[in-house]
Amino acid sequence: MPILSYLRTATTALPAVITIILLTIDAFGHSADFDFDSTSPNARVWFSEFVPAGTNVTFPDNDPTCARSSQVVLTDTCRIAMFIPTSERSNISFEAWFPRNWTGRFLSTGNGGLSGCIQYEDMAYASALGFATVGANNGHNGTSGRPFLNNSEVVEDFAFRSMHTGVLVGKNLTETFYGSPHNKSYYLGCSTGGRQGLKSVQDFPEDFDGVVAGAPAADFNHLLDWSGHFFNITGNSSASTFLPTDQWINLVHPDVLAQCDDIDGVKDGIIEDPNLCEYDPTGLICEEDGGTNANATGCITQAQAGMIKEVYLPFYIEGELAYPRIQPGSESLPIFYTGEPFVYTADWFRYVVYNDPSYDVDTLSEKDWALAAELDPIDISTWSGDLSAFRDRQGKVLTYHGQADGLISSKNSERYYDRVSDTMGLNSSELDEFYRLFRISGMGHCSGGVGAWEIGQTLAGSGGETSVDELNLDPASNVLMAMVRWVEEGVAPETVLGTKYVDDTVSEGVAFARAHCRYPLRNTYDGTGDYTKEESWNCLEVDQ
Ligand SMILES: *[C@@H]1O[C@H](CO)[C@@H](O)[C@H](O)[C@H]1NC(C)=O
Ligand SMILES: *[C@@H]1O[C@H](CO)[C@@H](O)[C@H](O)[C@H]1NC(C)=O
Ligand SMILES: *[C@@H]1O[C@H](CO)[C@@H](O)[C@H](O)[C@H]1NC(C)=O
Ligand SMILES: *[C@@H]1O[C@H](CO)[C@@H](O)[C@H](O)[C@H]1NC(C)=O
Ligand SMILES: *[C@@H]1O[C@H](CO)[C@@H](O)[C@H](O)[C@H]1NC(C)=O
Ligand SMILES: *[C@@H]1O[C@H](CO)[C@@H](O)[C@H](O)[C@H]1NC(C)=O
Ligand SMILES: *[C@@H]1O[C@H](CO)[C@@H](O)[C@H](O)[C@H]1NC(C)=O
Ligand SMILES: *[C@@H]1O[C@H](CO)[C@@H](O)[C@H](O)[C@H]1NC(C)=O
Ligand SMILES: *[C@@H]1O[C@H](CO)[C@@H](O)[C@H](O)[C@H]1NC(C)=O
Ligand SMILES: *[C@@H]1O[C@H](CO)[C@@H](O)[C@H](O)[C@H]1NC(C)=O
Ligand SMILES: *[C@@H]1O[C@H](CO)[C@@H](O)[C@H](O)[C@H]1NC(C)=O
Repeated sequence: MPILSYLRTATTALPAVITIILLTIDAFGHSADFDFDSTSPNARVWFSEFVPAGTNVTFPDNDPTCARSSQVVLTDTCRIAMFIPTSERSNISFEAWFPRNWTGRFLSTGNGGLSGCIQYEDMAYASALGFATVGANNGHNGTSGRPFLNNSEVVEDFAFRSMHTGVLVGKNLTETFYGSPHNKSYYLGCSTGGRQGLKSVQDFPEDFDGVVAGAPAADFNHLLDWSGHFFNITGNSSASTFLPTDQWINLVHPDVLAQCDDIDGVKDGIIEDPNLCEYDPTGLICEEDGGTNANATGCITQAQAGMIKEVYLPFYIEGELAYPRIQPGSESLPIFYTGEPFVYTADWFRYVVYNDPSYDVDTLSEKDWALAAELDPIDISTWSGDLSAFRDRQGKVLTYHGQADGLISSKNSERYYDRVSDTMGLNSSELDEFYRLFRISGMGHCSGGVGAWEIGQTLAGSGGETSVDELNLDPASNVLMAMVRWVEEGVAPETVLGTKYVDDTVSEGVAFARAHCRYPLRNTYDGTGDYTKEESWNCLEVDQ
């Protein structure tokens, strides 16, 4: 049983680090008595340092593909970096950032894509908010899936063990460092980080009291299958079906908006509920190809129209629904239509499914999709609908998903919610007690987009990139603080107030705001008010 063997590693590992931590504690003027026996240390501290507020920390050893070479630390922080073996053939790099202004809260950050990268910006954010914050590298360095090759231990770190290890070690260090245990434990992550949050809720219900999981990469194997199947639909860049990226953005997206933007009653470039959009590209077909579009430069062929229709269909494997459709609206930031196999899918099949770096990913087809799902290494699917253990210990989980997400279909978060509802036999008012899903209109993958997408999910956009004093701590418009209030005061968020800043720059002021509703309620314009004001919209029940 891998979890147990890990636990032994983690608990025997810590004592060796304590003398180094003592030095750091001195920097804060704390004092505490330690009584550890330092036997068989497996973990070791690389270094610990005191980082004064405002320091621009650089990470010279960090893998360049992580694209995180520096981070401004916003508050007085003790930074501890450790190496922790997770098996004989795997290990994690782990960091704990302990702020002087501790609130008694603990938080783990997550990762993204197939990485391999500590998200320093999230560590800076949470520590500035007063959380004792940890992060780990998910068992490998960099964004490539290559370290998975022939090493299921690294896959196991990626599936759950890196983060769970970081949580256990981090909670222990927190108590050691501050001299009292944390009061409440939180999680904040998006994408793969969203999947990691759900993994904890499903399988490690003791790890957190409150989990904020954005755009979760849940049903992971089917997600990668689905990501890969678009190449088969679009064909490569010389196929008759292929449509260049700029035409997705400049031709298809405006046509989608022309058909679907005003379904919600407001033409603002935001499709409030893409489930209501049944897009038909036929009107873009050129006159000379039998269509009605006389604009020779801005028209498409019959073959391209057929391809576009197929792109927006749900994804079936061997006749069964495997993953929902990509939502119309997401083509404003297209990702899958490059005419090449999607990189994460390619890596996953080469380095995990087939353990063959030279595998020809151009030929992947239905039998490969089925095999990947069947393999489901280390239960990475993260698809269990039974959250009763987490619910029973009063855990709360908030998921959010951008409705214009071009990387992970927002429809899949509804599908997971419905799955939990079916599995646990709970209707939405019963799920509301511990699990809420917010649909963020006009938001792309985790952040960005034309909608009111700033919801406190990251440091960027929370107003505090340069100073702690400017951070937005309002639970109405900050999902993390909303979770803190839910856990600690029992006040659950009814809506999440999103903000759109002018040019997405906080200092330039607010362009508009919109209160995003929890699923299955639908945000509905009142028909008369100023649509840039949140009070002109209401969360209404709909027939699904
Ligand atoms: C932390 O781990 C060490 C080593 O296993 C153990 O002796 C200590 O009791 C733990 N501390 C806490 C607060 O769990
Ligand atoms: C932090 O330092 C790095 C490397 O010297 C530099 O590229 C970056 O611009 C600095 N960041 C800030 C906010 O000053
Ligand atoms: C610590 O918190 C106090 C009170 O909230 C605040 O005034 C101070 O600026 C904070 N210090 C740091 C270093 O964050
Ligand atoms: C960490 O694990 C990797 C395999 O994922 C291995 O190549 C590396 O040598 C290990 N590092 C140490 C210091 O053991
Ligand atoms: C933990 O919560 C208790 C009760 O609310 C409070 O008295 C204590 O100060 C908190 N601990 C920390 C470290 O904030
Ligand atoms: C990751 O990089 C660090 C150096 O930053 C290195 O010490 C560690 O062994 C690497 N981990 C793996 C799994 O290769
Ligand atoms: C991976 O394992 C397979 C089967 O054991 C072996 O044939 C192959 O050489 C290994 N590849 C690498 C890069 O180690
Ligand atoms: C999609 O896959 C099918 C079955 O493997 C194949 O016949 C077809 O040519 C592929 N289409 C494209 C555009 O790659
Ligand atoms: C596209 O696929 C066709 C058929 O497999 C192949 O002949 C052609 O070289 C490919 N073109 C590109 C740009 O990859
Ligand atoms: C034709 O389509 C192009 C590209 O979409 C567009 O820039 C142009 O304005 C269109 N011309 C007319 C007359 O509609
Ligand atoms: C959900 O179920 C509870 C208990 O059966 C019931 O009281 C409540 O009315 C239901 N709510 C909805 C929205 O169906």
